[in-house]
Amino acid sequence: MLHLCLLFMISLTTLTNANNTTPKLFPTEATPTSSGYLPINSTTGSSIFYTFYEAQAPISPLPQTPILIWLQGGPGCSSMVGNFLELGPYRVEADPQTSLTLAPNSGAWNHLFGLVFFDSPIGTGFSIAGNAEEIPRDQQTVANHLFVALRSFLMLNTLFKSRPIYITGESYGGKYVPAFGAYVLEMNSRLPANRRVNLKGVAIGNGLTDPGIQVGTHGITAYYSGLIDEKQKNEIEELQRVAVRLVSEEKWAEATDARNQVLGKLENFTGLATLYDLRRRSPYEFDLLDKFLNKDEVQRGLGVKSHVVWEDCSDVVGAALHEDVMKSVKFMVEGLVSESSTSSSVKVLLYQGQFDLRDGVVSTEAWIKTMRWEGLEEYLKSERKIWRVNGEVAGYVQRYGRFSEVVVSGAGHLVPTDQPVNAQAMIEDWVLERGLFAEESETGAAKLKDLK
Ligand SMILES: *[C@@H]1O[C@H](CO)[C@@H](O)[C@H](O)[C@H]1NC(C)=O
Ligand SMILES: *[C@@H]1O[C@H](CO)[C@@H](O)[C@H](O)[C@H]1NC(C)=O
Ligand SMILES: *[C@@H]1O[C@H](CO)[C@@H](O)[C@H](O)[C@H]1NC(C)=O
Repeated sequence: MLHLCLLFMISLTTLTNANNTTPKLFPTEATPTSSGYLPINSTTGSSIFYTFYEAQAPISPLPQTPILIWLQGGPGCSSMVGNFLELGPYRVEADPQTSLTLAPNSGAWNHLFGLVFFDSPIGTGFSIAGNAEEIPRDQQTVANHLFVALRSFLMLNTLFKSRPIYITGESYGGKYVPAFGAYVLEMNSRLPANRRVNLKGVAIGNGLTDPGIQVGTHGITAYYSGLIDEKQKNEIEELQRVAVRLVSEEKWAEATDARNQVLGKLENFTGLATLYDLRRRSPYEFDLLDKFLNKDEVQRGLGVKSHVVWEDCSDVVGAALHEDVMKSVKFMVEGLVSESSTSSSVKVLLYQGQFDLRDGVVSTEAWIKTMRWEGLEEYLKSERKIWRVNGEVAGYVQRYGRFSEVVVSGAGHLVPTDQPVNAQAMIEDWVLERGLFAEESETGAAKLKDLK
């Protein structure tokens, strides 16, 4: 009787357990369409990890449906941050019961387009660096590795081959995106038509692109936001001048350190939780990702080969690119957008969350004004239009020809995290040339083209 009773109890507990299993952290629906490693060097084993998500509701046949590539910043931060905290189909959220949960993202960028996240450079996130020497120290090498990875990615599926490609990214992606774009155009000019990459545009969110100019804008931004007083502004500006001088002297490592001094001083003066968003009471939740992406179940679901310790940002990769930080890639943006460039030009979008104190609106507009681009004057004269989504102000759009700038209202450094629906509307309208991105027949740009 006792035995029977025990047995009964045991089976009961097994039953309730089976019935009561904690919900799966990584549900089957969240599995990428494909994921894995794209070889960079077969001798050393270096490879770039990717996760690809096919379009959920494409409005064109798949062979014509655009693919967006996402590159995280840092240097050395994993694109899984973008995937699971910003613009991927599922986002990690804190859950009072299970501590972590995955929730569908209403602002996912793979709604109308395919979306692929590359962990780049090698050594970042789930990517593999065969040895430390192979980790890139400059943008040319970063771009070369990305190009090798993209070529093998496009060969994975015959439907990928000629799909329109848009390179997107954020923050230090302001370096990678133009460098990768320029590299693709350069390679295209040398390759036969059937081996070219169908690059259509590049988009940078809150980017660091022309650091020597951008580092000069922290003082005024914080001052006119009411965060520091005039003495403090003067002190920040003194540090900024040091950074600018070191850039002009091409003392790259020291210039990077000097920029860190500026940002450190700004943090100390303002006491903000993060410079990424002056409104935030606590930093963006990278720590959730550290918990989530280090679970076996999640790594298996993503197709990670053998368990690795995932870090949101790699210090090793950061150190390798330390001397690269303050080098400008503005000339690459100029080359991408220029009508007179030998290779065909592409669309460029710069979008900024309004409340970012690191790489924000003022910081970006400061270098735009100094571009050597035949359309600059017309661009600066063009009207900054109010952008509305569902009747509400979502931000502002200024555009001339192939060059657009968007200010995103109510957002900090991680625009898709803060404004998922508006960020999705922005990227979709920009790619599809709808709304404020539609080509108006009566614009000067169009007239010019007709005359040519
Ligand atoms: C628990 O198990 C019963 C019987 O198999 C089933 O009908 C019920 O849906 C289950 N409940 C949950 C929450 O899975
Ligand atoms: C791969 O790595 C080996 C060993 O470091 C090196 O000799 C070779 O040049 C590399 N190959 C490529 C394509 O980078
Ligand atoms: C900021 O404050 C910390 C703690 O007081 C200090 O160690 C650090 O040197 C300060 N940084 C700058 C750039 O002033």
